Amino acid sequence: MLASRRILLIIGGGIAAYKTLELIRRLRDRGAEVTPVLTRAGAQFVTPLSVSALAGCKVYGDLFDLTDEAEMGHIQLSRSADLVVVAPATADLMGKMAAGLAGDLASTLLMATDTPVLIAPAMNVRMWQHPATRRNRAQLAADGIAFVGPNEGSMACGEFGPGRMAEPDEILAAIERALGQGPLAGKRILVTSGPTHEPIDPVRYIANRSSGAQGTAIARALAGLGAEVIFVTGPAEVPPPEGVEVVRVETALQMSEAVDAALPVDAGIFAAAVADWRVASASDRKLKKSRDGLPVMEFAENPDILARVAQMAKGRPRLVIGFAAETDDVIANATAKRARKCCDWILANDVSPATGIMGGTENAVVLISEEGAEAWPRMGKAEVAERLAARVAAALAS
Ligand code: CTP
Repeated sequence: MLASRRILLIIGGGIAAYKTLELIRRLRDRGAEVTPVLTRAGAQFVTPLSVSALAGCKVYGDLFDLTDEAEMGHIQLSRSADLVVVAPATADLMGKMAAGLAGDLASTLLMATDTPVLIAPAMNVRMWQHPATRRNRAQLAADGIAFVGPNEGSMACGEFGPGRMAEPDEILAAIERALGQGPLAGKRILVTSGPTHEPIDPVRYIANRSSGAQGTAIARALAGLGAEVIFVTGPAEVPPPEGVEVVRVETALQMSEAVDAALPVDAGIFAAAVADWRVASASDRKLKKSRDGLPVMEFAENPDILARVAQMAKGRPRLVIGFAAETDDVIANATAKRARKCCDWILANDVSPATGIMGGTENAVVLISEEGAEAWPRMGKAEVAERLAARVAAALAS
């Protein structure tokens, strides 16, 4: 909840401003007080009337408005919030912030404020990738400005790539994090995700069909509840979520090392599809077809990261959660796996091709714990993640 938290919300001039209307509604649903500032360009995309109706208060627009100055001066306005949020943060606004310009009310407030600032950039892909924007991003990050997004996707201008403003939910989660809110605030949680690639030679590897979608959704949901998330990911298809610390690895051995480096944590969720074996002596030169017949590969067993962490005598996370991807006797196999690996919970799922779960958007899981097996209905991976995150929050609170 954000009861009585004061957000000064600067709405820049971009098509994404329509999403900011939804953000205002969500913030107010959570009890936040929103004071909106609409730039001149912003008012080309959303009307002051809609903003003010949703925020339930007046909209500030012009630096030289004498009535506004008489009621609340711009310096006071800049200091009256717990957090300043800029959404959408256009290339122009970011440039002004980075350069320290203060030619209108929004940029003046950003210069005069003494409260933390969170920005949700939104712009065309090329503008986001332009060297000037890159410089501005680096400068703003060095100045302590927090970012949420942008996301990758198709954009209103018809192009594809990074530049889409983060969704209202993601901005809300970033606001909660910035304000130290949420049931998992102060908790450090490790999530492993995606497949691993085990090299055969410099160009070939052994992999599996994991897309990383479920692990990514779990990391996003945990961050949304305020957790500090360390996201150790193999080469996944889906991009990592916003607002988490991303550690990219390729092999099981690298994942194991990255997990060790992330400890201690309050909870560890092992959603990665780790290869059980690696090629014992991967060649550092490309294997060539030879007249001597087919190549013979010897395998070595990879460390079982989940089992190792779950069985730590010292520094074991309070809650260790594994996954069991099964094709037969799901509950029996997963129950045995939970006992064998010594984890607290196992989320078991049937990954037979007919279920369409592996690489798909939905999941049907059974939560296996000390209390027994609890089947969850088939639902979207994001919903599975939210349900799991809520259970983790409840378990860590007790
Ligand atoms: N896991 C891991 N490290 C490994 C292998 C698996 O951390 N080297 C974790 C996975 O992230 C998952 C759980 O263990 O949470 C289950 O993985 P799975 O491969 O299904 O279990 P196995 O023990 O390999 O059993 P089997 O392959 O016989 O089903």
